[in-house]
Amino acid sequence: MHNLERTFAIIKPDAVLADYSDDILNMIEENGFDILAVRPHHWTREQAEQFYAIHKNRPFFGELVDFMISGPLVMLVLEKENAVAAWRDLMGATNPDEAAAGTIRNLYGANIGHNATHGSDSLENAKIEIGQFFPELV
Ligand code: CMP
Repeated sequence: MHNLERTFAIIKPDAVLADYSDDILNMIEENGFDILAVRPHHWTREQAEQFYAIHKNRPFFGELVDFMISGPLVMLVLEKENAVAAWRDLMGATNPDEAAAGTIRNLYGANIGHNATHGSDSLENAKIEIGQFFPELV
């Protein structure tokens, strides 16, 4: 059975600044994802607030938005069988302290806010997130 999916990923400003982008892109390719889009970008506050609107009532929302506009990031659309879960597995737990050895956040994340990468948490949200930046790829 084939269950080809697309998910939305971000190499966050902490990882871009630390020059981990190429290592992370290599891990993505080695793990069998097709990279359908890769776009470096520096978000505006409005783009960050729209993207993370689901978290707007959380105490860390302001910090999250400030961080995500603090420098350039890289937006990606990834395709693979069960891509949403596969990308979350490759990233590891949101908190790098809890991320399994060898996962991206274990290797490259510093703390729960500065955690190197983002990934959609469901297929439904993947479509929304891809649609915000790559409507032609939804
Ligand atoms: P991400 O997958 O981009 O989705 C929401 C982000 O909020 C999450 O990764 C974390 O980086 C961030 N986040 C979650 N909890 C906290 C927290 N307690 N403090 C700061 N940032 C957080």
